[in-house]
Amino acid sequence: MNKEKSIEALQFFTTGLTNGAFVHKVQGQILKSAGFNKLSDKYLSHYDEEMDWVTKFIDRILDLGGEVKVEDRQAVALVADPVEYVKCDLQRQTEGLEILRKCVAEVHDDPTTYDLLKAYLKDEEDDLYWSETAVELIGKLGEQNWLLTQL
Ligand SMILES: [Fe+2]
Ligand SMILES: [Fe+2]
Repeated sequence: MNKEKSIEALQFFTTGLTNGAFVHKVQGQILKSAGFNKLSDKYLSHYDEEMDWVTKFIDRILDLGGEVKVEDRQAVALVADPVEYVKCDLQRQTEGLEILRKCVAEVHDDPTTYDLLKAYLKDEEDDLYWSETAVELIGKLGEQNWLLTQL
């Protein structure tokens, strides 16, 4: 198996997911201060969930004898409008899943890392389905009615 490839993939998601999770955290606080408590709780718990994955990635890098790096994070534009944010997150998730699917395939010769990234992929797919359903509901109920369900 190619250890370096596994470590590289795990580091990529350690940095990328830390950044993505932190966006959920800040967006969650923005939504909370605007009174959308239910939607806020969704994103804040999402932050915890994603940081649990980061913990697992870090542990796996260390188990492989690799060195974990704390890397610069990319600037991300925040979106104050709840509906716009859900749509924007759906877009980001769709792009992220494509990258993740490719990375999972690349570590197939390391079953432990493969299983870990595959489990994470499944989790991210579930998040994507949640966002898709939310966008569908916004279309069916109308923005105002949907927002009432997120207080
Ligand atoms: Fe996410
Ligand atoms: Fe997620």
